[in-house]
Amino acid sequence: MLTGETILLRSFERDDLKHLHRWQNDEDIMRLARSFPDHTISREALESRYEKAIKGDDFGQRYYIIEEKSSRKPIGWTSLDIHGWTRRATGADIGVAIGEKDRWKKGYGTEVVRLVLREAFEQLNLHRVTWWTFAENEASLALAKKMGFKEEGRTRDSVFFDNRYHDSVILGLLRDEYDASSKPSLSPRPKRSMRTKSS
Ligand SMILES: CC(C)(COP(=O)(O)OP(=O)(O)OC[C@H]1O[C@@H](n2cnc3c(N)ncnc32)[C@H](O)[C@@H]1OP(=O)(O)O)[C@@H](O)C(=O)NCCC(=O)NCCS
Repeated sequence: MLTGETILLRSFERDDLKHLHRWQNDEDIMRLARSFPDHTISREALESRYEKAIKGDDFGQRYYIIEEKSSRKPIGWTSLDIHGWTRRATGADIGVAIGEKDRWKKGYGTEVVRLVLREAFEQLNLHRVTWWTFAENEASLALAKKMGFKEEGRTRDSVFFDNRYHDSVILGLLRDEYDASSKPSLSPRPKRSMRTKSS
């Protein structure tokens, strides 16, 4: 469990699929989260999509339900997808979606990303985290930049939805930048004292 002040991140349970079913069939959420407004998915397809996550069988693809502490309600999901293609556990893609729209702009996104970055850098010892979105997703870009991500490039006309092509934006955050901008949650290990020969 990754615990913040107002939210916590926990593993997917089978019972969460009903929430994911609602969120991942919502046009607004899926446009913003996946550049895919016409996304539809059945309960059964969700079951097979997240089977490994529910069983805890996947090291590389980590999914978390975002739970609001005050109501104990699931309000969205987030993910950290460690790049398998590098054959090194050095980088990951981050994803975040607050599925309950009345919970937007309350600071939850900021807290979710803070917790996921702490996991990525301070627990998994990753070197970089990558953030993808389409160029008009202002909330996503604002959140990424607030958390220290730097825009690294754009892929022109790389996604098509709503009758036109959109650019994708790639942003990255390196471990050094994270360390410089945030106080690591664990205090550094005390230096070992030098022992003299006579001791
Ligand atoms: C993107 C998202 C996670 C942001 O979550 P949130 O809880 O609303 O974010 P916060 O309240 O922590 O706000 C973070 C910053 O973004 C800014 N922001 C939030 N929504 C914004 C919007 N619509 N336009 C511009 N800036 C916005 C806030 O002002 C805040 O900056 P500040 O603290 O300097 O004022 C949420 O809008 C969401 O789930 N959207 C749908 C899915 C999605 O787009 N996911 C990202 C895909 S990569």
